[in-house]
Amino acid sequence: MSLPKSNLTPEEIAFFHREGYLVIDRLLEESELAFAREVYDRIFEARTGREEGNEFDLAGADEDEKPAALPQILSPARYAPEFETLKARERALAITRQLLGEDAFFSGDHAILKPAGYGAETPWHQDEAYWDEASHYNAVSVWIPFQEATQENGCLHFIPGSHLWELKPHHPIGNDPRVHGLEVDEVDPSGAVVCPLKAGGATIHHSRTMHYAGPNRTQGVRRAYIMVFQTPARKLEQPHDFYWWKSRTTTREKRAQAYKEKQG
Ligand code: NI
Repeated sequence: MSLPKSNLTPEEIAFFHREGYLVIDRLLEESELAFAREVYDRIFEARTGREEGNEFDLAGADEDEKPAALPQILSPARYAPEFETLKARERALAITRQLLGEDAFFSGDHAILKPAGYGAETPWHQDEAYWDEASHYNAVSVWIPFQEATQENGCLHFIPGSHLWELKPHHPIGNDPRVHGLEVDEVDPSGAVVCPLKAGGATIHHSRTMHYAGPNRTQGVRRAYIMVFQTPARKLEQPHDFYWWKSRTTTREKRAQAYKEKQG
């Protein structure tokens, strides 16, 4: 596949490797924004993927009758192939290859909505705490807001240099085993940087970078679309112990299980 020229400067590449994150002023074309928002709103409105366990409340107990505090859809491009046609996807891959190496590939996407006025915070965490405990990753998340992202509606915060830390112990948000979302046990956020973005801009962070997004205190929704890119993962001889997954009883898991059984 021929990719558009990526435009990271040597300084930007060095910044990413030193700080563990990077801000891109524009990744999504201005002309793609309205379309992207429309597709995004459509799948959240329909709670697309709920039956399979791919739509759920990241920050709450995910009960059917209650509005979700932090709705998430996993693999939205599976349900809305329009996302695959965004030029931002190719551009993000090209940029990622500059950061991680030529063997980097798209490994998945997700979408996190913070509803207007009450969308919950996304507590401090490292993305790898969600992944396979037996693998070593070299990966990034490319986080794109489909409207302006501000401190008031839930833009990302990063702890510079935290991509070089070990993976820290995590627990379910609020220590509630019904909640899918994770929170790091301990962190000192005093050195964190806040990264507001224009619509269609992006932040890129490493899979170990400690990050956070505040609650949505505004009257507009905060839409974020996230693409993950990685180089081939390596099996660890000494796997981590992600004990925080072992006592989970999420309704998302139950739906996923029931769906699998139905499919045979
Ligand atoms: Ni994250």
